[in-house]
Amino acid sequence: MQEKILITGAGGQLGSVLTMKLQEKFGVDHVIATDLYPKVGFSGHFETLDATDYQKLESIVIKYSITQIYHLAAILSANGEKTPVKTWDLNMKTLINVLEVSRIQGLNKVFYPSSIAVFGANAPKDNTSQDQFLLPSTVYGMSKVAGENWVNYYYTKYGLDVRSLRYPGVIGYETLPGGGTTDYAVDIFHKAIHNKPFQCFLSASAQLPMIYMEDAIRATLELMETPKQNITIRSSYNIAGMSFTPNQLFLMIRKTYPKFTITYHPDFRQEIADTWPNSIDDSFAVRDWSWSPKYDLESMTESMIKNLK
Ligand code: SER
Repeated sequence: MQEKILITGAGGQLGSVLTMKLQEKFGVDHVIATDLYPKVGFSGHFETLDATDYQKLESIVIKYSITQIYHLAAILSANGEKTPVKTWDLNMKTLINVLEVSRIQGLNKVFYPSSIAVFGANAPKDNTSQDQFLLPSTVYGMSKVAGENWVNYYYTKYGLDVRSLRYPGVIGYETLPGGGTTDYAVDIFHKAIHNKPFQCFLSASAQLPMIYMEDAIRATLELMETPKQNITIRSSYNIAGMSFTPNQLFLMIRKTYPKFTITYHPDFRQEIADTWPNSIDDSFAVRDWSWSPKYDLESMTESMIKNLK
């Protein structure tokens, strides 16, 4: 069967790169990118879509005979704190629309990104396991916890094959993140390669789980390809890539840029980071679909610098 893929949030940090990979995998003609605005230089099928608009979403699904949706549109953790109610409304409404259209139009698979933001200050910090009591500190995290429950519900109640990952902070050279707590780990590279000093909005010791873009995309595609009977987590899988502090990243970048400097000015995002894990236990992803990240701090840093230069 020829799959037809729709992506929401296709202009975003992850969505842009995922769209290209899905085009490679399924063929350019079988991938429909959607977002609020078209992206300059994008090649392929694009439809303008505000995913809170059910009618428009459904009309695109029908127009292209869509069989799978990757629902990437969302407001992230840091931006979300500036407009809590709007963040809740947007993150929840778009997900419910995607689940409903998938159920009604009989789609065969949906991908939903969750996040390390589902964990709160109550959870153990190191090797945080899958089954914690989730008490997030941000509206973004709250929307992802609720979203995990909704995707589990649609699977259990309607048999809709929704799959989900709790992404760590995603680091890539291809795109810039927008409004997250982990964004510093991308911004720092752009400063370093332009020989500019970096002002970090987290403290030197704020250790967070991170993943390199290539690993994040591969994890997504591997999860979506896994035989249905192997998927045992129907909320969202913990996945790990690497874990480091701003200071460790700074020291790694300094190996290539010995004159690079950093100053620390923690703001409200530090308070968010304080409630997130240091590192993640992803043993269910390892067991169910053989997850294994390729990149650690050193190889990620090398690849970022090489590609940004
Ligand atoms: N990277 C995201 C953020 O910082 C976490 O999902 O909001």
